[in-house]
Amino acid sequence: MSTHDQVMIESEFGVPIPGAIVDESLWARTGLKRLPLAGPLDFESIFGRVAPLIVELGCGNGRYTLLSAIQRPACDHIAVDLLPVVIRYATRRGNQRGLSNVRFAVKDAETFVAKYLGAGSAAEVHLYHPQPYHDPRERGRRLMTPRFLADVHRALTPGGLFVIQTDNADYWRYIRRIMPEFFAFEVRDEPWPDAPEGRSRREILARSRGLRVFRGVGVRRDDIVLDEAIRRADQPAPPRIRPRGPERELDALERDG
Ligand SMILES: C[S@@+](CC[C@H](N)C(=O)[O-])C[C@H]1O[C@@H](n2cnc3c(N)ncnc32)[C@H](O)[C@@H]1O
Repeated sequence: MSTHDQVMIESEFGVPIPGAIVDESLWARTGLKRLPLAGPLDFESIFGRVAPLIVELGCGNGRYTLLSAIQRPACDHIAVDLLPVVIRYATRRGNQRGLSNVRFAVKDAETFVAKYLGAGSAAEVHLYHPQPYHDPRERGRRLMTPRFLADVHRALTPGGLFVIQTDNADYWRYIRRIMPEFFAFEVRDEPWPDAPEGRSRREILARSRGLRVFRGVGVRRDDIVLDEAIRRADQPAPPRIRPRGPERELDALERDG
């Protein structure tokens, strides 16, 4: 690998990827190549210990999960994305950092939560910049639906956290409307203190283009009946999400790497 390639891999838009490459003898195996046909996953056997589980959905190149795994060695982490190419990047970085508390897998987030996370198995679920899918024909692919939130709620431990952020104002309005049915939801205006320049590639990119980033943390509500919460959250129709100029540019940039 050339020095140029190495620099590209180790920083993006001038912000270093968390952690450092360790000696090859210490590299880890962070790729979870094949998920079993039947869930839920047995995390004790995957990680060889019992520890709080942090989940990231649509993790892209894994920046946040790497950061969290380095900062919180006492927690185990699993991160999934639909795209094999981004998971390859994430896995390589996790391996080269010798992170034994991380696994990356190629999987659709909805299936992953519903099928592979047991009830009460996760301490935190993180979702950074889920695709808003502007085209009405693709609306059905959006992750943030009442059904999905109910599945996340089921997967979390009592008091567990769901962390969400987006740079799409329409999507955010919808998220703010449905989240409180399942979570005690608090909006965070400032960047996360653990990553002042951005927790994820998309956040760094969005902020570099002057887009506002919307962030929030939901604490799992223990006082709800899930079917009722779904019914209430389903009441207003899902929003029309309009693309704005800067977002289109970012989407193109992300496609082209
Ligand atoms: C805008 S990117 C954000 C990536 C990363 N979270 C970040 O903030 O930089 C959206 C990511 O979600 C992934 N994705 C889209 N739909 C998904 C789904 N249903 N399940 C898992 N990943 C999905 C895409 O492949 C892409 O990597």
